[in-house]
Amino acid sequence: MTTPITPLIAGNWKMNGTNASLAEVRRLSELLTATPPRCTVVICPPATLLAPLNAIAAPSGIVVGGQDCHPMPSGAHTGDVSAQMIADAGAQYVIVGHSERRARYGETDDLVRGKAVAAMTAGLTPIICVGETEAERRDGKAEEIVAGQLANSVPEQIGQLGIVIAYEPVWAIGSGLTPTSDDIAQMHGTIRRLLTERYGEAGARSRILYGGSMKPANAREILDIENVNGGLVGGASLLANDFHAIISAV
Ligand code: 13P
Repeated sequence: MTTPITPLIAGNWKMNGTNASLAEVRRLSELLTATPPRCTVVICPPATLLAPLNAIAAPSGIVVGGQDCHPMPSGAHTGDVSAQMIADAGAQYVIVGHSERRARYGETDDLVRGKAVAAMTAGLTPIICVGETEAERRDGKAEEIVAGQLANSVPEQIGQLGIVIAYEPVWAIGSGLTPTSDDIAQMHGTIRRLLTERYGEAGARSRILYGGSMKPANAREILDIENVNGGLVGGASLLANDFHAIISAV
């Protein structure tokens, strides 16, 4: 019998959080120490908080991740942070290709793939985001868009550490809207098929997260869907009690 895939719940704090927010992490650590989670728990804070958050979170098993990285290991790239730097701060994961970066900074699939390769080279597991816009879904193009992003944003070799895919429909992010369970099942099934065709066993075992308005109230229903191996949580990851409720829904 093959071992089941360990689910992953990742919190993406986006551009939120200062040292004061570490109190929420202390609280979450206490909750998780009292009841150990049935999944990997990752928090992706702003880069300024990676090291202090890691120091607080590591004893309770919470893992830290970056929100983005540059494709180069170092150099004259003012304002950027490399995958090596993120790993050096104690992280094990890094989000790449979030739709907010694709849309606002014009990040292409090629650039996202370069970032994912840089992440793996630095010993990080990339969480590669894909997802269609509202107009693309309305036009019946959601699967075509996601398949194209997968084909071009995911590196040819996914190596020992593997990859995590986060399906985040753009229109569901921060909107309180979510796709129907059938629509999530359909898209995650397609992503699983494409990963398995391309990477074999490694694709069959890659974690596919759902992201977009995941909350304590809908987490259980979403996490029960076939081929949903966890969640990438924005707003609801900022407060320990809400994030803990989602973790407990696994
Ligand atoms: P929300 O959970 O706030 O909708 O954000 C989702 C997201 O973008 C996570 O990366």
